[in-house]
Amino acid sequence: MIKKGIILAGGMGTRMSPLTKAVNKHLLPIYDKPLIFYPLSILMLAKIREILIIVNKGQLNQYKKIIPNGDNLGIKITFKEQKKPVGLPDAFILGEKFIGKSNTALILGDNFFYGQNLTKILNQCCKLTSGAKVLLHKVSKPELYGVAKVNSKNKIISIKEKPKKYISDLAITGLYFFDNKVIKYSKSLKPSKRGEIEITDLLNKYKSKKKLTADYIGRGGAWLDTGSIEDFYKTSTFVSAIENRQGFKIACLEEISLLNNWINKKHILKAIKFYGNCSYSNYLKKLISK
Ligand code: TTP
Repeated sequence: MIKKGIILAGGMGTRMSPLTKAVNKHLLPIYDKPLIFYPLSILMLAKIREILIIVNKGQLNQYKKIIPNGDNLGIKITFKEQKKPVGLPDAFILGEKFIGKSNTALILGDNFFYGQNLTKILNQCCKLTSGAKVLLHKVSKPELYGVAKVNSKNKIISIKEKPKKYISDLAITGLYFFDNKVIKYSKSLKPSKRGEIEITDLLNKYKSKKKLTADYIGRGGAWLDTGSIEDFYKTSTFVSAIENRQGFKIACLEEISLLNNWINKKHILKAIKFYGNCSYSNYLKKLISK
C-alpha cells in the first residue's frame, strides 16, 4: 500500500505573472480556497497521511500560514524547499529521506481532479507494490499534453510529450504512483535540452522494464491543470458551479479528515476559530451540527 505522498508546489508560475511575483501560484484562489487545498485533498482521499510539500526557497512562511502542520487534519505534513525548479523528478531526490524505504505518490500542485469514482480509483492505485502507475484522461487536444499509448493489459507501450503526430488521446495527468526505485531512477536522469530532468524520461525507465501501468479517470471525472490564468478561471467556475448547485464543498480538508475518522468535532471547532468568520467556516459549522 502507498502511504506517503509528495505535492510539488514550487515552480516559477511564469505564465501567471505578475500574480505570482509576490505570492506562490499554489496559494492563489481556485474559487473559495487556495489551489494547494485541491491536490492535498486528493492525497487525503487516497488515505495518504504522510505528506511532503515541496515549496520554493524563501516561500515556506507563506505556506505555513495556511497549513501550519497537519495536526488539525490528523495527518503529518513536512515541508522541503526546492532551490530551483529543475524538473518534476527532483521531488524524489529532495524527498529521499521522507520516502525512506516506502513507495510514494506524487501530485503536481497545480492539478485539479474531481469525479464520482475518484476515491475508488485512488485507493486502487495505492495498492501498487512494484513498478509505476499513471492516471490517464482522454483529451480533445492530445498535442498539448504528454500522452500514452496503452495495450490491452493496461501496460503503457509508448509515451510522447506534446506529439505532433497522433499516437493516442490519453493524456498523462499530474498524479503518479511509484515504487521505491523512483529515487534511484530519478538520480540517474540527465537534464533535457531545456535544462530540466523530465518526468517522461523517468516514466520511460519504468516502461523499458515493462513496469509502467495505467489507470483511468473516465468521462464522469474531470482533470484540469491550472497553469495559466484562463485555466485558473475555468477551474474556479467549475468549482463554483458544483458547490453552489449541490451545497457540498470540493476539497474541504477538514470534511475529508472527519469522514476518514482522523479527527473529531474538537478539531473542527479549532479550525472554525482559525479560519474566522467566512463561508468555509460556516460550512464546517454545518458539518458538526448534523
Ligand atoms: P510547470 O507547469 O512546469 O511550471 P510552473 O507551475 O512554474 O509554471 P510556468 O510554466 O508558468 O512557469 O509545473 C507543474 C507543477 O509542478 C507546478 O505545480 C509547479 C511544480 N513544479 C515544482 O514544484 N518544481 C519544479 O521543479 C517544476 C518543474 C515544477
